[in-house]
Amino acid sequence: MDNFLKAREILKEYNQEHLLSFYDELDYEEKEFLVNQILRIDFKQIFDLYEASKTDEVIPCNLIEPLPYFDKTKLSCDDQNSYIALGETYIKENSLAVVTMAGGQGTRLGYKGPKGSFELDIVPKKSLFEILCDNLKKANAEYNVTIPWYIMTSIYNDEATKKFFEDKNFFGYPKDSIKFFTQSQLPLIDITENLILEETYKIKEASNGNGDVFSALKRHGMLQDMKNRNIKWVFFSGVDNVILDIVDPLFIGLTAKNNTPISSKTLFKEDANSPDWIFAKRNGKPAIINSSHLSTDMKIAKNENGYDLYREINMLAHLFSMPSVELIANRSLPYHRAFKKNTFVNDEGMKQIPESPNTFKFETFIFDAFSYFDDMVLLRVNKEDEFAPIKDFNGPHNPEVAKDLYLNKLNRI
Ligand code: UTP
Repeated sequence: MDNFLKAREILKEYNQEHLLSFYDELDYEEKEFLVNQILRIDFKQIFDLYEASKTDEVIPCNLIEPLPYFDKTKLSCDDQNSYIALGETYIKENSLAVVTMAGGQGTRLGYKGPKGSFELDIVPKKSLFEILCDNLKKANAEYNVTIPWYIMTSIYNDEATKKFFEDKNFFGYPKDSIKFFTQSQLPLIDITENLILEETYKIKEASNGNGDVFSALKRHGMLQDMKNRNIKWVFFSGVDNVILDIVDPLFIGLTAKNNTPISSKTLFKEDANSPDWIFAKRNGKPAIINSSHLSTDMKIAKNENGYDLYREINMLAHLFSMPSVELIANRSLPYHRAFKKNTFVNDEGMKQIPESPNTFKFETFIFDAFSYFDDMVLLRVNKEDEFAPIKDFNGPHNPEVAKDLYLNKLNRI
Protein backbone atom coordinates (compact mmCIF):
# COMPACT_ATOMS: atom_id res chain seq x y z
CA MET A 1 0.00 0.00 0.00
CA ASP A 2 1.41 3.43 -0.77
CA ASN A 3 2.02 5.92 2.00
CA PHE A 4 -1.00 8.07 1.20
CA LEU A 5 -3.35 5.10 1.44
CA LYS A 6 -1.71 3.99 4.69
CA ALA A 7 -2.11 7.48 6.12
CA ARG A 8 -5.77 7.62 5.07
CA GLU A 9 -6.43 4.25 6.71
CA ILE A 10 -4.95 5.48 9.99
CA LEU A 11 -7.03 8.64 9.91
CA LYS A 12 -10.16 6.64 9.18
CA GLU A 13 -9.50 4.38 12.15
CA TYR A 14 -9.25 7.39 14.47
CA ASN A 15 -11.95 9.48 12.84
CA GLN A 16 -9.50 12.16 11.76
CA GLU A 17 -10.06 12.31 8.01
CA HIS A 18 -10.62 16.08 8.20
CA LEU A 19 -6.81 16.38 8.34
CA LEU A 20 -6.76 15.59 4.62
CA SER A 21 -9.42 18.20 3.74
CA PHE A 22 -6.95 20.33 1.76
CA TYR A 23 -4.78 17.52 0.45
CA ASP A 24 -5.78 17.92 -3.18
CA GLU A 25 -4.74 21.58 -3.14
CA LEU A 26 -1.24 20.91 -1.76
CA ASP A 27 1.94 20.83 -3.83
CA TYR A 28 4.08 17.71 -4.01
CA GLU A 29 6.33 18.57 -1.05
CA GLU A 30 3.45 19.61 1.17
CA LYS A 31 1.61 16.38 0.38
CA GLU A 32 4.68 14.40 1.30
CA PHE A 33 5.14 16.39 4.51
CA LEU A 34 1.57 15.76 5.64
CA VAL A 35 1.57 12.06 4.81
CA ASN A 36 4.89 11.52 6.59
CA GLN A 37 3.63 13.40 9.61
CA ILE A 38 0.50 11.24 9.78
CA LEU A 39 2.62 8.09 9.54
CA ARG A 40 4.93 9.33 12.31
CA ILE A 41 2.24 10.38 14.81
CA ASP A 42 1.22 7.79 17.37
CA PHE A 43 -2.58 8.24 17.21
CA LYS A 44 -3.22 5.53 19.76
CA GLN A 45 -0.99 7.27 22.29
CA ILE A 46 -2.63 10.66 21.89
CA PHE A 47 -6.17 9.30 22.12
CA ASP A 48 -5.25 7.09 25.09
CA LEU A 49 -3.77 10.14 26.83
CA TYR A 50 -6.86 12.16 26.09
CA GLU A 51 -9.17 9.48 27.51
CA ALA A 52 -7.00 8.99 30.60
CA SER A 53 -6.83 12.72 31.27
CA LYS A 54 -10.59 13.07 31.55
CA THR A 55 -10.33 12.24 35.25
CA ASP A 56 -9.35 15.30 37.26
CA GLU A 57 -6.16 14.15 38.88
CA VAL A 58 -3.31 12.34 37.19
CA ILE A 59 -1.82 10.96 40.41
CA PRO A 60 -3.90 10.37 43.55
CA CYS A 61 -2.71 12.32 46.57
CA ASN A 62 -3.68 10.25 49.60
CA LEU A 63 -0.99 10.95 52.17
CA ILE A 64 0.86 14.27 52.32
CA GLU A 65 3.92 14.78 54.52
CA PRO A 66 6.56 17.50 54.65
CA LEU A 67 9.84 17.23 52.78
CA PRO A 68 12.48 18.99 54.91
CA TYR A 69 14.82 21.55 53.39
CA PHE A 70 18.18 23.14 54.15
CA ASP A 71 18.15 26.92 54.20
CA LYS A 72 21.31 28.11 52.46
CA THR A 73 21.35 31.33 54.50
CA LYS A 74 21.23 29.39 57.77
CA LEU A 75 23.99 26.85 57.12
CA SER A 76 26.95 27.22 59.49
CA CYS A 77 30.27 28.25 57.98
CA ASP A 78 31.71 24.83 58.79
CA ASP A 79 28.86 23.04 57.05
CA GLN A 80 29.08 25.32 54.04
CA ASN A 81 32.81 24.73 53.72
CA SER A 82 32.55 20.99 54.02
CA TYR A 83 29.74 20.80 51.41
CA ILE A 84 31.68 23.04 49.05
CA ALA A 85 34.86 21.00 49.49
CA LEU A 86 33.01 17.77 48.73
CA GLY A 87 31.17 19.28 45.76
CA GLU A 88 34.45 20.60 44.40
CA THR A 89 36.02 17.16 44.38
CA TYR A 90 33.35 16.05 41.89
CA ILE A 91 33.75 19.12 39.72
CA LYS A 92 37.56 18.84 39.73
CA GLU A 93 37.41 15.22 38.61
CA ASN A 94 35.15 16.40 35.75
CA SER A 95 32.26 14.21 36.82
CA LEU A 96 29.56 16.91 36.63
CA ALA A 97 27.44 17.34 33.49
CA VAL A 98 25.03 20.21 32.88
CA VAL A 99 21.79 19.75 30.95
CA THR A 100 19.89 22.79 29.65
CA MET A 101 16.30 22.08 28.71
CA ALA A 102 15.63 24.40 25.80
CA GLY A 103 12.96 22.47 23.93
CA GLY A 104 10.04 24.65 25.04
CA GLN A 105 8.32 26.95 22.58
CA GLY A 106 8.57 30.11 24.66
CA THR A 107 4.96 30.87 23.78
CA ARG A 108 4.49 33.53 26.45
CA LEU A 109 7.59 35.47 25.41
CA GLY A 110 6.53 35.18 21.78
CA TYR A 111 10.11 35.75 20.60
CA LYS A 112 10.88 34.59 17.07
CA GLY A 113 13.73 32.12 17.28
CA PRO A 114 14.92 29.79 20.01
CA LYS A 115 14.32 31.31 23.45
CA GLY A 116 18.00 30.76 24.28
CA SER A 117 18.95 33.20 21.54
CA PHE A 118 16.91 35.98 23.17
CA GLU A 119 19.29 38.73 24.26
CA LEU A 120 19.41 40.42 27.62
CA ASP A 121 19.70 44.15 27.09
CA ILE A 122 23.04 44.66 28.82
CA VAL A 123 26.32 46.04 27.44
CA PRO A 124 27.38 44.13 25.46
CA LYS A 125 24.09 42.31 24.80
CA LYS A 126 24.14 38.67 25.79
CA SER A 127 21.86 35.84 24.75
CA LEU A 128 20.46 33.46 27.36
CA PHE A 129 22.69 30.73 25.91
CA GLU A 130 25.76 32.92 26.26
CA ILE A 131 24.92 33.70 29.88
CA LEU A 132 24.69 29.98 30.64
CA CYS A 133 27.93 29.42 28.78
CA ASP A 134 29.66 32.18 30.81
CA ASN A 135 28.83 30.22 33.97
CA LEU A 136 30.36 27.07 32.55
CA LYS A 137 33.46 28.86 31.28
CA LYS A 138 34.01 30.46 34.68
CA ALA A 139 33.77 27.09 36.42
CA ASN A 140 36.03 25.46 33.82
CA ALA A 141 38.70 28.09 34.45
CA GLU A 142 38.37 27.81 38.22
CA TYR A 143 38.56 24.03 38.35
CA ASN A 144 40.66 23.39 35.27
CA VAL A 145 38.08 21.13 33.60
CA THR A 146 35.67 21.19 30.68
CA ILE A 147 32.15 20.54 31.88
CA PRO A 148 30.12 18.72 29.22
CA TRP A 149 27.03 20.69 28.28
CA TYR A 150 23.95 18.89 26.92
CA ILE A 151 21.27 21.05 25.33
CA MET A 152 17.77 19.70 24.73
CA THR A 153 16.03 21.18 21.69
CA SER A 154 12.79 20.31 19.92
CA ILE A 155 11.93 19.90 16.23
CA TYR A 156 10.76 23.53 16.32
CA ASN A 157 14.10 25.01 17.31
CA ASP A 158 16.77 22.35 16.83
CA GLU A 159 18.10 23.63 13.51
CA ALA A 160 17.92 27.27 14.55
CA THR A 161 19.60 26.53 17.89
CA LYS A 162 22.50 24.71 16.28
CA LYS A 163 22.86 27.47 13.71
CA PHE A 164 22.88 30.07 16.46
CA PHE A 165 25.74 28.28 18.20
CA GLU A 166 27.65 27.92 14.91
CA ASP A 167 27.18 31.61 14.14
CA LYS A 168 28.45 32.53 17.60
CA ASN A 169 31.36 30.13 17.27
CA PHE A 170 30.01 28.21 20.27
CA PHE A 171 30.93 31.21 22.45
CA GLY A 172 34.46 29.85 22.46
CA TYR A 173 33.38 26.70 24.30
CA PRO A 174 35.07 23.44 23.24
CA LYS A 175 32.75 22.23 20.49
CA ASP A 176 33.00 18.55 21.37
CA SER A 177 31.75 19.30 24.88
CA ILE A 178 28.44 20.76 23.69
CA LYS A 179 25.90 18.16 22.64
CA PHE A 180 22.45 18.87 21.23
CA PHE A 181 19.61 16.37 21.43
CA THR A 182 15.97 16.74 20.47
CA GLN A 183 12.93 15.91 22.55
CA SER A 184 9.66 14.52 21.20
CA GLN A 185 6.40 16.23 20.43
CA LEU A 186 2.71 15.37 20.50
CA PRO A 187 -0.27 16.63 18.53
CA LEU A 188 -2.81 18.90 20.19
CA ILE A 189 -6.41 17.81 20.36
CA ASP A 190 -9.46 20.08 20.40
CA ILE A 191 -12.68 19.92 22.38
CA THR A 192 -14.38 17.95 19.64
CA GLU A 193 -11.64 15.31 19.96
CA ASN A 194 -10.03 16.29 16.70
CA LEU A 195 -6.40 16.98 15.94
CA ILE A 196 -5.99 20.42 14.39
CA LEU A 197 -4.09 21.76 11.40
CA GLU A 198 -1.50 24.48 11.90
CA GLU A 199 -1.14 24.87 8.13
CA THR A 200 -3.19 23.15 5.45
CA TYR A 201 -0.29 20.67 5.11
CA LYS A 202 0.75 20.43 8.77
CA ILE A 203 -0.83 18.97 11.89
CA LYS A 204 -0.31 21.12 14.98
CA GLU A 205 2.08 19.50 17.44
CA ALA A 206 3.90 20.79 20.52
CA SER A 207 6.91 19.68 22.59
CA ASN A 208 5.84 17.00 25.03
CA GLY A 209 7.23 18.66 28.16
CA ASN A 210 10.59 18.87 29.89
CA GLY A 211 9.99 15.47 31.51
CA ASP A 212 11.01 13.95 28.17
CA VAL A 213 14.59 14.94 28.94
CA PHE A 214 15.57 11.57 30.44
CA SER A 215 14.35 9.37 27.63
CA ALA A 216 15.56 11.88 25.03
CA LEU A 217 19.05 11.73 26.58
CA LYS A 218 18.91 7.97 26.23
CA ARG A 219 17.40 7.91 22.72
CA HIS A 220 20.14 10.14 21.37
CA GLY A 221 23.06 8.32 22.96
CA MET A 222 23.73 11.09 25.47
CA LEU A 223 23.56 8.77 28.47
CA GLN A 224 26.24 6.67 26.88
CA ASP A 225 28.26 9.81 26.22
CA MET A 226 27.93 10.76 29.90
CA LYS A 227 29.00 7.28 30.94
CA ASN A 228 32.01 7.43 28.64
CA ARG A 229 32.99 10.65 30.39
CA ASN A 230 32.53 9.08 33.87
CA ILE A 231 29.84 11.54 34.84
CA LYS A 232 28.52 11.12 38.39
CA TRP A 233 26.16 14.08 38.78
CA VAL A 234 23.87 15.75 36.25
CA PHE A 235 22.46 19.21 36.82
CA PHE A 236 19.20 20.07 35.00
CA SER A 237 17.76 23.53 34.48
CA GLY A 238 15.84 25.61 31.97
CA VAL A 239 17.19 28.05 29.46
CA ASP A 240 15.72 31.25 30.84
CA ASN A 241 16.96 31.84 34.41
CA VAL A 242 19.77 34.36 33.99
CA ILE A 243 21.16 34.22 37.54
CA LEU A 244 20.97 30.56 38.45
CA ASP A 245 24.22 29.01 39.68
CA ILE A 246 24.37 26.01 37.38
CA VAL A 247 27.75 24.85 38.69
CA ASP A 248 27.26 24.92 42.44
CA PRO A 249 29.71 22.89 44.57
CA LEU A 250 27.71 23.52 47.74
CA PHE A 251 24.58 22.04 46.20
CA ILE A 252 26.45 18.99 44.88
CA GLY A 253 28.29 18.47 48.19
CA LEU A 254 25.08 18.78 50.22
CA THR A 255 23.38 16.18 48.03
CA ALA A 256 26.33 13.78 48.16
CA LYS A 257 26.79 14.18 51.93
CA ASN A 258 23.14 13.35 52.51
CA ASN A 259 23.45 10.28 50.38
CA THR A 260 20.43 11.08 48.27
CA PRO A 261 20.35 10.45 44.53
CA ILE A 262 18.42 13.63 43.72
CA SER A 263 18.03 17.20 44.98
CA SER A 264 16.39 20.47 44.08
CA LYS A 265 16.97 24.10 44.79
CA THR A 266 13.81 25.74 46.08
CA LEU A 267 12.36 29.15 46.79
CA PHE A 268 10.29 30.20 49.78
CA LYS A 269 6.62 30.49 48.91
CA GLU A 270 6.00 34.00 50.21
CA ASP A 271 2.22 33.95 49.99
CA ALA A 272 1.08 30.78 51.75
CA ASN A 273 -2.24 30.98 49.90
CA SER A 274 -0.89 31.42 46.41
CA PRO A 275 -1.72 28.58 44.02
CA ASP A 276 1.98 27.72 43.50
CA TRP A 277 2.72 24.01 43.67
CA ILE A 278 4.93 22.95 46.60
CA PHE A 279 7.42 20.22 47.47
CA ALA A 280 6.07 17.50 49.78
CA LYS A 281 6.02 13.78 50.18
CA ARG A 282 3.04 12.31 48.36
CA ASN A 283 2.11 8.77 49.34
CA GLY A 284 5.60 8.42 50.91
CA LYS A 285 7.54 9.69 47.89
CA PRO A 286 9.01 13.12 47.08
CA ALA A 287 6.84 15.16 44.72
CA ILE A 288 5.63 18.59 43.75
CA ILE A 289 1.94 18.87 44.52
CA ASN A 290 -0.86 21.29 43.89
CA SER A 291 -1.32 23.38 47.04
CA SER A 292 -5.07 22.80 46.81
CA HIS A 293 -4.28 19.49 48.55
CA LEU A 294 -3.23 21.40 51.69
CA SER A 295 -5.62 22.46 54.44
CA THR A 296 -5.48 26.10 55.60
CA ASP A 297 -3.46 25.05 58.65
CA MET A 298 -1.02 22.99 56.65
CA LYS A 299 -0.31 25.92 54.35
CA ILE A 300 1.31 27.86 57.20
CA ALA A 301 2.51 24.98 59.40
CA LYS A 302 6.04 25.04 60.88
CA ASN A 303 8.06 22.42 62.77
CA GLU A 304 9.39 22.83 66.32
CA ASN A 305 12.50 24.64 65.00
CA GLY A 306 10.47 27.17 63.11
CA TYR A 307 11.07 25.60 59.71
CA ASP A 308 8.13 25.79 57.30
CA LEU A 309 6.64 22.45 56.35
CA TYR A 310 4.96 23.20 53.05
CA ARG A 311 6.47 26.39 51.63
CA GLU A 312 9.15 25.20 49.20
CA ILE A 313 8.47 25.97 45.57
CA ASN A 314 10.09 24.73 42.40
CA MET A 315 12.61 26.85 40.51
CA LEU A 316 13.63 24.23 37.92
CA ALA A 317 17.10 23.48 39.30
CA HIS A 318 17.60 19.80 39.92
CA LEU A 319 20.58 17.53 40.52
CA PHE A 320 20.44 13.82 39.72
CA SER A 321 23.09 11.19 40.29
CA MET A 322 24.05 9.34 37.12
CA PRO A 323 22.33 6.07 38.20
CA SER A 324 19.14 8.00 38.94
CA VAL A 325 19.16 9.59 35.46
CA GLU A 326 19.55 6.13 33.95
CA LEU A 327 16.75 4.76 36.08
CA ILE A 328 14.27 7.43 34.98
CA ALA A 329 15.34 7.12 31.35
CA ASN A 330 13.87 3.64 31.49
CA ARG A 331 10.61 4.64 33.19
CA SER A 332 7.66 6.62 31.96
CA LEU A 333 6.41 9.84 33.52
CA PRO A 334 2.74 10.77 33.75
CA TYR A 335 1.28 13.24 31.26
CA HIS A 336 -0.46 16.39 32.48
CA ARG A 337 -3.14 18.04 30.42
CA ALA A 338 -3.29 21.78 29.81
CA PHE A 339 -6.12 23.62 28.08
CA LYS A 340 -4.73 26.36 25.81
CA LYS A 341 -5.61 28.76 23.03
CA ASN A 342 -4.20 27.67 19.68
CA THR A 343 -4.66 29.07 16.21
CA PHE A 344 -6.01 26.50 13.77
CA VAL A 345 -6.92 26.16 10.09
CA ASN A 346 -10.69 26.29 9.84
CA ASP A 347 -13.02 24.49 7.39
CA GLU A 348 -12.44 27.23 4.80
CA GLY A 349 -8.69 26.73 4.97
CA MET A 350 -8.19 30.03 6.81
CA LYS A 351 -6.17 30.47 10.00
CA GLN A 352 -8.46 31.26 12.89
CA ILE A 353 -7.44 32.63 16.28
CA PRO A 354 -9.85 31.27 18.90
CA GLU A 355 -11.35 33.64 21.45
CA SER A 356 -10.94 31.19 24.31
CA PRO A 357 -8.92 28.03 24.99
CA ASN A 358 -9.74 25.40 22.39
CA THR A 359 -7.09 22.68 22.60
CA PHE A 360 -5.59 20.21 25.03
CA LYS A 361 -1.82 19.88 25.25
CA PHE A 362 -0.09 16.96 26.94
CA GLU A 363 3.19 17.35 28.76
CA THR A 364 5.40 15.45 31.17
CA PHE A 365 7.28 17.36 33.85
CA ILE A 366 10.81 16.62 35.02
CA PHE A 367 9.68 16.84 38.65
CA ASP A 368 7.45 13.78 38.33
CA ALA A 369 10.70 11.80 38.29
CA PHE A 370 11.13 12.52 42.02
CA SER A 371 8.46 9.99 42.95
CA TYR A 372 10.67 7.14 41.75
CA PHE A 373 12.91 7.80 44.78
CA ASP A 374 12.41 7.47 48.53
CA ASP A 375 13.99 10.74 49.47
CA MET A 376 15.58 13.91 48.15
CA VAL A 377 17.41 16.95 49.45
CA LEU A 378 15.98 20.45 49.11
CA LEU A 379 18.14 23.55 49.31
CA ARG A 380 16.22 26.77 49.83
CA VAL A 381 18.06 29.65 48.15
CA ASN A 382 17.47 33.39 48.07
CA LYS A 383 15.30 34.56 45.22
CA GLU A 384 17.53 37.59 44.52
CA ASP A 385 20.57 35.31 44.28
CA GLU A 386 19.31 32.65 41.90
CA PHE A 387 15.92 33.33 40.38
CA ALA A 388 15.48 35.62 37.39
CA PRO A 389 13.69 33.68 34.65
CA ILE A 390 12.37 35.43 31.55
CA LYS A 391 8.83 34.30 30.78
CA ASP A 392 7.01 37.18 29.08
CA PHE A 393 7.17 40.93 28.51
CA ASN A 394 4.44 42.09 30.85
CA GLY A 395 4.41 39.80 33.87
CA PRO A 396 6.73 39.73 36.90
CA HIS A 397 9.30 37.63 35.03
CA ASN A 398 10.00 40.08 32.21
CA PRO A 399 13.38 40.89 30.60
CA GLU A 400 13.77 44.21 32.46
CA VAL A 401 13.38 42.59 35.88
CA ALA A 402 15.76 39.81 34.85
CA LYS A 403 18.29 42.38 33.63
CA ASP A 404 18.23 44.26 36.97
CA LEU A 405 18.67 41.05 38.94
CA TYR A 406 21.48 39.96 36.63
CA LEU A 407 23.36 43.26 36.98
CA ASN A 408 22.75 43.28 40.71
CA LYS A 409 24.30 39.88 41.08
CA LEU A 410 27.22 40.82 38.84
CA ASN A 411 27.97 43.82 41.05
CA ARG A 412 27.92 41.66 44.18
CA ILE A 413 30.44 39.07 42.90
P1 UTP B 1 8.32 26.70 30.44
O1 UTP B 1 7.22 25.82 30.88
O2 UTP B 1 8.50 27.98 31.15
O3 UTP B 1 8.15 26.89 28.87
O4 UTP B 1 9.62 25.83 30.46
P2 UTP B 1 8.72 27.94 27.86
O5 UTP B 1 8.93 27.24 26.57
O6 UTP B 1 9.95 28.60 28.39
O7 UTP B 1 7.59 29.00 27.76
P3 UTP B 1 6.00 28.90 27.50
O8 UTP B 1 5.41 28.12 28.66
O9 UTP B 1 5.78 28.23 26.17
O10 UTP B 1 5.58 30.33 27.49
C1 UTP B 1 10.63 25.85 31.43
C2 UTP B 1 11.89 25.28 30.76
O11 UTP B 1 11.63 23.96 30.28
C3 UTP B 1 11.93 23.88 28.90
C4 UTP B 1 11.83 25.31 28.37
O12 UTP B 1 12.59 25.46 27.18
C5 UTP B 1 12.35 26.11 29.55
O13 UTP B 1 13.76 26.15 29.54
N1 UTP B 1 10.98 23.00 28.22
C6 UTP B 1 9.65 23.17 28.37
C7 UTP B 1 11.49 22.02 27.41
O14 UTP B 1 12.73 21.86 27.26
N2 UTP B 1 10.60 21.22 26.76
C8 UTP B 1 9.26 21.34 26.89
O15 UTP B 1 8.52 20.57 26.26
C9 UTP B 1 8.76 22.34 27.72
